[in-house]
Amino acid sequence: MGIGGSTSLEARADGLVNVLVVGSGGREHALCWSLAQSGQLGELSCAPGNAGTAELATNLPIGPEDSDDLVRVAVERRVGLVMVGPEAALAAGLVDRLRERGIPAFGPTAAAARIESSKAWTKELLQRIRVPTARADVVTTLHEARRSLARCSYPVVLKADGLAAGKGVTVAGDADEAEAALDELFVARMVGPAADTVLVEEFLAGRELSVLAFCDGERLALMPPARDYKAAHDGDRGPNTGGMGAYSRPGFASPELMRQVRSQILEPVVAEMAARGHPFVGALYAGLMITPDGPKVLEFNCRFGDPETQVIVPLLESDLLGVAQAVVNGRLDETSVRWRPGSACGVVLASAGYPGPHPLGRPIIGLDGAERDALVFHAGTARTPDGNLVTAGGRVLTVVGVGDQLSEARARAYRAVEAVRFEGRHCRSDIAADESYGD
Ligand code: AMP
Ligand code: GLY
Repeated sequence: MGIGGSTSLEARADGLVNVLVVGSGGREHALCWSLAQSGQLGELSCAPGNAGTAELATNLPIGPEDSDDLVRVAVERRVGLVMVGPEAALAAGLVDRLRERGIPAFGPTAAAARIESSKAWTKELLQRIRVPTARADVVTTLHEARRSLARCSYPVVLKADGLAAGKGVTVAGDADEAEAALDELFVARMVGPAADTVLVEEFLAGRELSVLAFCDGERLALMPPARDYKAAHDGDRGPNTGGMGAYSRPGFASPELMRQVRSQILEPVVAEMAARGHPFVGALYAGLMITPDGPKVLEFNCRFGDPETQVIVPLLESDLLGVAQAVVNGRLDETSVRWRPGSACGVVLASAGYPGPHPLGRPIIGLDGAERDALVFHAGTARTPDGNLVTAGGRVLTVVGVGDQLSEARARAYRAVEAVRFEGRHCRSDIAADESYGD
Protein backbone atom coordinates (compact mmCIF):
# COMPACT_ATOMS: atom_id res chain seq x y z
CA MET A 1 0.00 0.00 0.00
CA GLY A 2 1.10 3.64 0.18
CA ILE A 3 1.25 6.31 -2.40
CA GLY A 4 4.97 6.39 -3.04
CA GLY A 5 4.58 6.71 -6.80
CA SER A 6 3.14 10.18 -6.57
CA THR A 7 5.91 11.61 -4.38
CA SER A 8 8.24 12.37 -7.28
CA LEU A 9 5.73 14.85 -8.72
CA GLU A 10 6.30 17.10 -5.74
CA ALA A 11 9.98 16.45 -5.06
CA ARG A 12 12.40 19.37 -4.99
CA ALA A 13 15.54 19.14 -7.06
CA ASP A 14 17.71 19.36 -3.91
CA GLY A 15 15.95 16.35 -2.34
CA LEU A 16 14.57 18.38 0.56
CA VAL A 17 10.89 18.02 1.42
CA ASN A 18 8.48 20.93 1.91
CA VAL A 19 6.08 20.12 4.72
CA LEU A 20 2.68 21.57 5.63
CA VAL A 21 1.34 20.99 9.16
CA VAL A 22 -2.43 21.53 9.53
CA GLY A 23 -3.76 22.80 12.86
CA SER A 24 -3.05 25.47 15.46
CA GLY A 25 -2.56 23.80 18.84
CA GLY A 26 0.29 22.75 21.08
CA ARG A 27 0.29 19.45 19.21
CA GLU A 28 1.02 21.16 15.92
CA HIS A 29 3.74 23.38 17.44
CA ALA A 30 5.39 20.24 18.86
CA LEU A 31 5.22 18.56 15.42
CA CYS A 32 6.75 21.66 13.77
CA TRP A 33 9.50 21.76 16.45
CA SER A 34 10.39 18.14 15.78
CA LEU A 35 10.21 18.45 11.97
CA ALA A 36 12.44 21.56 12.12
CA GLN A 37 15.28 19.37 13.43
CA SER A 38 15.31 17.27 10.27
CA GLY A 39 18.15 17.63 7.79
CA GLN A 40 15.64 16.65 5.07
CA LEU A 41 13.27 19.56 5.72
CA GLY A 42 12.79 22.15 2.99
CA GLU A 43 10.19 24.84 3.67
CA LEU A 44 7.87 24.36 6.64
CA SER A 45 4.34 25.84 6.57
CA CYS A 46 1.61 25.66 9.19
CA ALA A 47 -2.10 26.36 8.60
CA PRO A 48 -3.25 28.31 10.47
CA GLY A 49 -0.61 27.86 13.23
CA ASN A 50 0.01 30.15 16.20
CA ALA A 51 2.71 32.54 17.44
CA GLY A 52 4.94 29.57 18.34
CA THR A 53 4.76 27.89 14.93
CA ALA A 54 5.49 31.29 13.35
CA GLU A 55 9.03 31.05 14.76
CA LEU A 56 9.65 27.81 12.84
CA ALA A 57 7.26 27.87 9.89
CA THR A 58 5.37 30.17 7.55
CA ASN A 59 1.89 30.48 9.01
CA LEU A 60 -0.85 30.40 6.38
CA PRO A 61 -4.25 31.88 7.31
CA ILE A 62 -6.28 28.81 6.31
CA GLY A 63 -8.47 26.81 8.68
CA PRO A 64 -8.17 23.01 8.93
CA GLU A 65 -11.58 22.46 7.36
CA ASP A 66 -10.94 24.61 4.30
CA SER A 67 -9.79 21.68 2.21
CA ASP A 68 -9.95 23.52 -1.15
CA ASP A 69 -7.49 26.15 0.02
CA LEU A 70 -5.26 23.63 1.77
CA VAL A 71 -4.98 21.53 -1.39
CA ARG A 72 -4.32 24.69 -3.43
CA VAL A 73 -1.46 25.93 -1.19
CA ALA A 74 0.01 22.43 -0.97
CA VAL A 75 0.26 22.37 -4.78
CA GLU A 76 1.53 25.96 -5.00
CA ARG A 77 4.17 25.45 -2.34
CA ARG A 78 5.28 22.09 -3.81
CA VAL A 79 4.56 20.37 -0.53
CA GLY A 80 5.95 16.84 -0.36
CA LEU A 81 4.26 15.92 2.94
CA VAL A 82 1.17 17.18 4.77
CA MET A 83 0.70 16.29 8.45
CA VAL A 84 -2.88 16.77 9.62
CA GLY A 85 -3.59 17.40 13.32
CA PRO A 86 -7.34 17.86 13.94
CA GLU A 87 -9.82 14.99 13.66
CA ALA A 88 -12.59 17.03 12.03
CA ALA A 89 -10.42 17.68 8.97
CA LEU A 90 -9.55 13.98 8.72
CA ALA A 91 -13.17 12.90 9.12
CA ALA A 92 -14.16 15.41 6.42
CA GLY A 93 -11.77 13.78 3.95
CA LEU A 94 -8.81 16.18 3.77
CA VAL A 95 -6.37 13.30 3.26
CA ASP A 96 -8.55 11.87 0.46
CA ARG A 97 -8.51 15.25 -1.28
CA LEU A 98 -4.75 15.63 -0.95
CA ARG A 99 -4.08 12.13 -2.24
CA GLU A 100 -6.35 12.68 -5.25
CA ARG A 101 -3.93 15.44 -6.18
CA GLY A 102 -0.92 13.20 -5.57
CA ILE A 103 0.14 14.98 -2.39
CA PRO A 104 1.53 12.63 0.27
CA ALA A 105 -0.47 13.05 3.47
CA PHE A 106 0.11 11.69 6.97
CA GLY A 107 -3.29 10.77 8.37
CA PRO A 108 -6.20 8.44 7.62
CA THR A 109 -8.77 8.76 4.85
CA ALA A 110 -12.31 9.68 5.90
CA ALA A 111 -13.25 5.99 5.79
CA ALA A 112 -10.38 5.03 8.12
CA ALA A 113 -11.00 8.07 10.34
CA ARG A 114 -14.32 6.44 11.28
CA ILE A 115 -12.32 4.76 14.03
CA GLU A 116 -12.74 8.12 15.79
CA SER A 117 -15.69 9.69 13.98
CA SER A 118 -18.11 6.82 14.68
CA LYS A 119 -17.97 5.15 18.08
CA ALA A 120 -20.70 2.71 16.98
CA TRP A 121 -18.70 1.64 13.91
CA THR A 122 -15.63 1.10 16.08
CA LYS A 123 -17.55 -0.79 18.77
CA GLU A 124 -18.89 -3.19 16.14
CA LEU A 125 -15.37 -3.70 14.77
CA LEU A 126 -13.89 -4.34 18.22
CA GLN A 127 -16.67 -6.77 19.16
CA ARG A 128 -16.38 -8.61 15.85
CA ILE A 129 -12.65 -9.32 16.32
CA ARG A 130 -12.93 -9.78 20.11
CA VAL A 131 -10.69 -6.92 21.15
CA PRO A 132 -11.29 -6.17 24.85
CA THR A 133 -13.57 -3.16 25.24
CA ALA A 134 -16.45 -1.99 27.43
CA ARG A 135 -19.76 -3.74 26.61
CA ALA A 136 -22.23 -1.40 24.94
CA ASP A 137 -25.68 -1.18 23.41
CA VAL A 138 -25.99 0.98 20.29
CA VAL A 139 -29.32 2.88 20.26
CA THR A 140 -30.95 5.44 18.00
CA THR A 141 -34.01 6.58 19.98
CA LEU A 142 -34.79 7.78 23.49
CA HIS A 143 -37.09 4.78 23.91
CA GLU A 144 -34.35 2.29 23.01
CA ALA A 145 -31.89 4.12 25.27
CA ARG A 146 -34.26 3.87 28.25
CA ARG A 147 -34.81 0.17 27.57
CA SER A 148 -31.06 -0.36 27.60
CA LEU A 149 -30.65 1.66 30.82
CA ALA A 150 -33.31 -0.47 32.52
CA ARG A 151 -31.00 -3.47 32.11
CA CYS A 152 -27.73 -1.81 33.16
CA SER A 153 -26.06 -1.11 36.48
CA TYR A 154 -24.65 2.25 37.56
CA PRO A 155 -22.45 4.11 36.90
CA VAL A 156 -23.08 3.89 33.17
CA VAL A 157 -21.47 5.80 30.32
CA LEU A 158 -23.49 7.54 27.59
CA LYS A 159 -21.64 8.46 24.42
CA ALA A 160 -22.65 10.29 21.29
CA ASP A 161 -21.58 8.26 18.24
CA GLY A 162 -20.04 11.14 16.26
CA LEU A 163 -17.43 13.87 16.79
CA ALA A 164 -18.51 16.16 19.61
CA ALA A 165 -15.32 18.08 20.51
CA GLY A 166 -15.04 16.29 23.85
CA LYS A 167 -18.64 17.09 24.85
CA GLY A 168 -20.30 13.82 23.86
CA VAL A 169 -19.47 11.56 26.85
CA THR A 170 -21.23 11.48 30.24
CA VAL A 171 -20.51 9.13 33.12
CA ALA A 172 -23.90 8.91 34.87
CA GLY A 173 -23.85 7.86 38.53
CA ASP A 174 -27.57 7.09 38.78
CA ALA A 175 -30.78 6.95 36.78
CA ASP A 176 -31.49 10.69 37.17
CA GLU A 177 -28.10 11.65 35.78
CA ALA A 178 -28.55 9.19 32.91
CA GLU A 179 -31.97 10.65 32.08
CA ALA A 180 -30.51 14.18 32.12
CA ALA A 181 -27.73 13.10 29.76
CA LEU A 182 -30.19 11.43 27.39
CA ASP A 183 -32.23 14.62 27.40
CA GLU A 184 -29.17 16.62 26.34
CA LEU A 185 -28.32 14.13 23.60
CA PHE A 186 -31.75 13.30 22.13
CA VAL A 187 -33.99 16.24 23.08
CA ALA A 188 -31.87 19.38 23.52
CA ARG A 189 -29.55 18.05 20.76
CA MET A 190 -26.55 19.64 22.51
CA VAL A 191 -24.11 17.90 20.16
CA GLY A 192 -26.45 17.87 17.15
CA PRO A 193 -26.37 14.95 14.69
CA ALA A 194 -23.35 13.45 16.49
CA ALA A 195 -26.00 11.97 18.82
CA ASP A 196 -28.28 10.48 16.13
CA THR A 197 -26.77 7.25 17.43
CA VAL A 198 -25.77 6.79 21.07
CA LEU A 199 -23.81 4.15 22.98
CA VAL A 200 -25.00 3.00 26.40
CA GLU A 201 -21.73 1.64 27.72
CA GLU A 202 -20.49 -0.34 30.68
CA PHE A 203 -18.42 1.75 33.12
CA LEU A 204 -14.86 0.48 33.46
CA ALA A 205 -12.80 1.18 36.58
CA GLY A 206 -9.02 1.35 36.47
CA ARG A 207 -6.21 3.63 35.32
CA GLU A 208 -6.39 5.38 31.97
CA LEU A 209 -3.51 5.19 29.51
CA SER A 210 -3.01 6.64 26.04
CA VAL A 211 -1.04 4.46 23.65
CA LEU A 212 -0.23 5.97 20.27
CA ALA A 213 1.40 4.23 17.35
CA PHE A 214 2.75 5.21 13.96
CA CYS A 215 0.88 3.05 11.49
CA ASP A 216 1.57 2.57 7.76
CA GLY A 217 -1.61 0.65 6.98
CA GLU A 218 -0.11 -2.70 7.93
CA ARG A 219 2.66 -2.22 10.47
CA LEU A 220 2.91 -0.42 13.77
CA ALA A 221 5.62 1.40 15.70
CA LEU A 222 4.45 2.17 19.22
CA MET A 223 5.20 5.53 20.79
CA PRO A 224 6.03 5.80 24.49
CA PRO A 225 2.79 5.52 26.50
CA ALA A 226 1.34 8.66 28.04
CA ARG A 227 -1.24 9.73 30.57
CA ASP A 228 -3.32 12.83 30.13
CA TYR A 229 -5.36 14.91 32.56
CA LYS A 230 -8.70 16.04 31.19
CA ALA A 231 -10.33 17.67 34.24
CA ALA A 232 -9.80 21.41 34.71
CA HIS A 233 -8.73 21.29 38.37
CA ASP A 234 -6.41 19.40 40.70
CA GLY A 235 -7.57 16.02 41.91
CA ASP A 236 -9.47 15.47 38.63
CA ARG A 237 -12.20 17.87 39.73
CA GLY A 238 -14.07 20.37 37.60
CA PRO A 239 -15.26 20.32 34.02
CA ASN A 240 -13.73 18.29 31.21
CA THR A 241 -11.22 20.18 29.05
CA GLY A 242 -9.18 19.52 25.92
CA GLY A 243 -6.39 18.38 28.30
CA MET A 244 -4.57 20.16 31.14
CA GLY A 245 -1.33 18.19 31.05
CA ALA A 246 0.29 14.86 30.30
CA TYR A 247 3.37 12.83 31.01
CA SER A 248 5.31 9.99 29.53
CA ARG A 249 6.23 7.37 30.56
CA PRO A 250 3.87 6.23 33.36
CA GLY A 251 5.48 3.66 35.66
CA PHE A 252 2.48 1.31 35.49
CA ALA A 253 2.81 0.99 31.70
CA SER A 254 5.21 -1.96 32.00
CA PRO A 255 6.84 -3.59 28.97
CA GLU A 256 4.54 -6.59 29.53
CA LEU A 257 1.45 -4.36 29.49
CA MET A 258 2.67 -2.66 26.31
CA ARG A 259 3.21 -6.06 24.65
CA GLN A 260 -0.37 -6.95 25.56
CA VAL A 261 -1.68 -3.65 24.14
CA ARG A 262 0.19 -4.29 20.93
CA SER A 263 -0.80 -7.92 20.41
CA GLN A 264 -4.36 -7.91 21.81
CA ILE A 265 -5.52 -4.46 20.70
CA LEU A 266 -3.47 -2.52 18.15
CA GLU A 267 -2.35 -5.32 15.82
CA PRO A 268 -5.79 -6.94 15.43
CA VAL A 269 -7.43 -3.54 14.83
CA VAL A 270 -4.92 -2.52 12.18
CA ALA A 271 -5.23 -5.92 10.45
CA GLU A 272 -9.04 -5.73 10.49
CA MET A 273 -9.06 -2.20 9.06
CA ALA A 274 -6.78 -3.29 6.23
CA ALA A 275 -8.97 -6.37 5.62
CA ARG A 276 -12.04 -4.13 5.38
CA GLY A 277 -10.32 -2.03 2.73
CA HIS A 278 -9.66 1.00 4.97
CA PRO A 279 -6.03 0.63 6.03
CA PHE A 280 -5.08 3.06 8.77
CA VAL A 281 -2.22 5.41 7.87
CA GLY A 282 -1.04 7.98 10.40
CA ALA A 283 -1.01 8.16 14.19
CA LEU A 284 -3.42 5.72 15.77
CA TYR A 285 -4.37 6.60 19.33
CA ALA A 286 -5.85 4.03 21.70
CA GLY A 287 -7.53 5.44 24.83
CA LEU A 288 -7.39 2.53 27.26
CA MET A 289 -8.59 1.62 30.72
CA ILE A 290 -6.15 -0.66 32.49
CA THR A 291 -8.56 -2.86 34.47
CA PRO A 292 -7.86 -5.79 36.79
CA ASP A 293 -8.74 -7.97 33.74
CA GLY A 294 -6.17 -6.25 31.54
CA PRO A 295 -6.27 -3.32 29.09
CA LYS A 296 -9.63 -2.48 27.50
CA VAL A 297 -10.46 0.07 24.81
CA LEU A 298 -12.42 3.20 25.80
CA GLU A 299 -12.00 4.93 22.46
CA PHE A 300 -9.77 5.34 19.46
CA ASN A 301 -8.59 8.62 18.00
CA CYS A 302 -7.38 8.87 14.42
CA ARG A 303 -4.61 11.40 15.08
CA PHE A 304 -1.93 12.57 17.49
CA GLY A 305 -3.26 13.47 20.95
CA ASP A 306 -3.09 16.90 22.50
CA PRO A 307 -1.32 17.31 24.96
CA GLU A 308 0.19 13.80 24.61
CA THR A 309 2.15 14.81 21.50
CA GLN A 310 3.93 17.56 23.43
CA VAL A 311 5.39 14.95 25.82
CA ILE A 312 5.98 12.23 23.22
CA VAL A 313 7.90 13.99 20.44
CA PRO A 314 10.66 15.26 22.78
CA LEU A 315 11.43 11.55 23.40
CA LEU A 316 11.72 10.74 19.69
CA GLU A 317 15.32 10.12 18.69
CA SER A 318 14.61 9.30 15.04
CA ASP A 319 13.89 12.00 12.49
CA LEU A 320 10.12 12.69 12.56
CA LEU A 321 10.11 13.64 8.87
CA GLY A 322 11.74 10.32 7.93
CA VAL A 323 9.31 8.37 10.11
CA ALA A 324 6.30 10.24 8.69
CA GLN A 325 7.45 9.52 5.13
CA ALA A 326 7.88 5.83 5.97
CA VAL A 327 4.32 5.83 7.33
CA VAL A 328 2.90 7.49 4.22
CA ASN A 329 4.86 5.27 1.84
CA GLY A 330 4.02 1.99 3.62
CA ARG A 331 7.66 1.40 4.57
CA LEU A 332 7.64 1.21 8.35
CA ASP A 333 9.23 -2.24 8.02
CA GLU A 334 12.39 -0.64 6.65
CA THR A 335 12.55 2.15 9.21
CA SER A 336 13.49 1.78 12.83
CA VAL A 337 11.73 4.28 15.05
CA ARG A 338 14.03 4.98 17.99
CA TRP A 339 13.13 6.64 21.27
CA ARG A 340 15.29 8.20 23.98
CA PRO A 341 15.07 6.77 27.46
CA GLY A 342 13.66 9.12 30.11
CA SER A 343 10.50 11.05 30.72
CA ALA A 344 8.66 14.20 29.78
CA CYS A 345 6.05 16.11 31.77
CA GLY A 346 3.81 18.75 30.18
CA VAL A 347 1.74 21.33 32.06
CA VAL A 348 -0.90 23.32 30.19
CA LEU A 349 -1.26 27.01 31.06
CA ALA A 350 -4.84 28.08 30.38
CA SER A 351 -6.79 31.36 30.41
CA ALA A 352 -8.98 32.21 33.41
CA GLY A 353 -12.38 30.56 33.04
CA TYR A 354 -11.30 27.88 30.55
CA PRO A 355 -13.07 25.63 29.43
CA GLY A 356 -15.85 28.23 29.83
CA PRO A 357 -15.75 31.78 28.43
CA HIS A 358 -12.32 33.36 28.86
CA PRO A 359 -10.63 36.67 28.08
CA LEU A 360 -8.25 37.02 25.13
CA GLY A 361 -5.45 39.44 24.30
CA ARG A 362 -3.68 39.30 27.68
CA PRO A 363 0.08 40.01 27.42
CA ILE A 364 2.31 36.98 28.09
CA ILE A 365 5.75 37.52 29.66
CA GLY A 366 8.60 35.36 30.90
CA LEU A 367 8.97 32.84 28.08
CA ASP A 368 12.75 33.42 27.81
CA GLY A 369 13.17 32.33 31.41
CA ALA A 370 10.92 29.31 30.96
CA GLU A 371 12.73 28.19 27.81
CA ARG A 372 16.05 27.95 29.71
CA ASP A 373 14.74 24.90 31.53
CA ALA A 374 11.91 23.53 29.42
CA LEU A 375 10.22 23.40 26.03
CA VAL A 376 7.35 25.82 25.58
CA PHE A 377 4.77 24.82 22.97
CA HIS A 378 2.21 27.45 22.02
CA ALA A 379 -1.53 26.89 21.44
CA GLY A 380 -3.76 29.96 21.91
CA THR A 381 -1.16 32.68 21.32
CA ALA A 382 -0.85 35.55 18.85
CA ARG A 383 1.35 38.59 18.19
CA THR A 384 -0.01 42.12 18.32
CA PRO A 385 0.89 44.39 15.37
CA ASP A 386 3.79 45.72 17.46
CA GLY A 387 5.11 42.22 18.08
CA ASN A 388 3.98 41.55 21.64
CA LEU A 389 2.88 38.05 22.57
CA VAL A 390 -0.72 37.81 23.82
CA THR A 391 -3.23 35.11 24.72
CA ALA A 392 -5.60 34.06 21.91
CA GLY A 393 -7.41 30.99 23.24
CA GLY A 394 -8.38 28.84 26.21
CA ARG A 395 -5.31 26.64 26.28
CA VAL A 396 -2.40 29.03 25.85
CA LEU A 397 0.87 27.10 26.29
CA THR A 398 2.15 23.63 27.18
CA VAL A 399 5.35 23.81 29.23
CA VAL A 400 7.33 20.55 28.95
CA GLY A 401 10.21 19.38 31.14
CA VAL A 402 12.36 16.46 29.99
CA GLY A 403 14.65 14.39 32.22
CA ASP A 404 16.18 11.00 32.87
CA GLN A 405 13.72 10.54 35.73
CA LEU A 406 10.08 11.61 35.70
CA SER A 407 10.64 13.51 38.97
CA GLU A 408 13.31 15.60 37.24
CA ALA A 409 11.12 16.22 34.18
CA ARG A 410 8.27 17.31 36.45
CA ALA A 411 10.46 19.64 38.52
CA ARG A 412 11.78 21.29 35.33
CA ALA A 413 8.29 21.78 33.95
CA TYR A 414 6.95 23.38 37.12
CA ARG A 415 10.05 25.58 37.54
CA ALA A 416 9.51 26.89 34.03
CA VAL A 417 5.77 27.35 34.66
CA GLU A 418 6.64 29.75 37.49
CA ALA A 419 8.52 31.98 35.05
CA VAL A 420 5.54 32.51 32.71
CA ARG A 421 3.05 35.24 33.58
CA PHE A 422 -0.25 36.36 32.09
CA GLU A 423 -3.36 37.71 33.77
CA GLY A 424 -5.62 34.91 34.99
CA ARG A 425 -3.09 32.18 34.19
CA HIS A 426 -4.46 28.84 35.38
CA CYS A 427 -2.77 25.43 35.53
CA ARG A 428 -3.05 22.19 37.44
CA SER A 429 -0.37 21.63 40.07
CA ASP A 430 -0.68 17.84 40.16
CA ILE A 431 0.44 16.68 36.70
CA ALA A 432 2.46 13.46 37.25
CA ALA A 433 2.23 14.03 41.03
CA ASP A 434 0.61 10.68 41.77
CA GLU A 435 3.31 8.67 40.00
CA SER A 436 5.64 6.80 42.34
CA TYR A 437 9.13 8.16 41.79
CA GLY A 438 10.89 4.85 41.81
CA ASP A 439 11.34 5.17 38.04
P1 AMP B 1 -13.89 9.36 25.34
O1 AMP B 1 -14.23 10.64 24.64
O2 AMP B 1 -14.57 8.14 24.81
O3 AMP B 1 -12.40 9.22 25.57
O4 AMP B 1 -14.40 9.55 26.84
C1 AMP B 1 -13.97 10.64 27.60
C2 AMP B 1 -13.61 10.15 28.99
O5 AMP B 1 -14.74 9.51 29.59
C3 AMP B 1 -12.51 9.11 29.01
O6 AMP B 1 -11.23 9.67 28.96
C4 AMP B 1 -12.80 8.41 30.32
O7 AMP B 1 -12.26 9.17 31.41
C5 AMP B 1 -14.30 8.44 30.40
N1 AMP B 1 -14.86 7.18 29.87
C6 AMP B 1 -15.23 6.91 28.61
N2 AMP B 1 -15.70 5.66 28.50
C7 AMP B 1 -15.65 5.12 29.73
C8 AMP B 1 -16.00 3.84 30.27
N3 AMP B 1 -16.54 2.87 29.52
N4 AMP B 1 -15.77 3.62 31.58
C9 AMP B 1 -15.25 4.58 32.36
N5 AMP B 1 -14.91 5.81 31.92
C10 AMP B 1 -15.10 6.08 30.62
N1 GLY C 1 -5.74 14.09 24.91
C1 GLY C 1 -6.91 13.60 24.35
C2 GLY C 1 -7.07 13.84 22.92
O1 GLY C 1 -6.18 14.30 22.23
O2 GLY C 1 -8.15 13.56 22.41
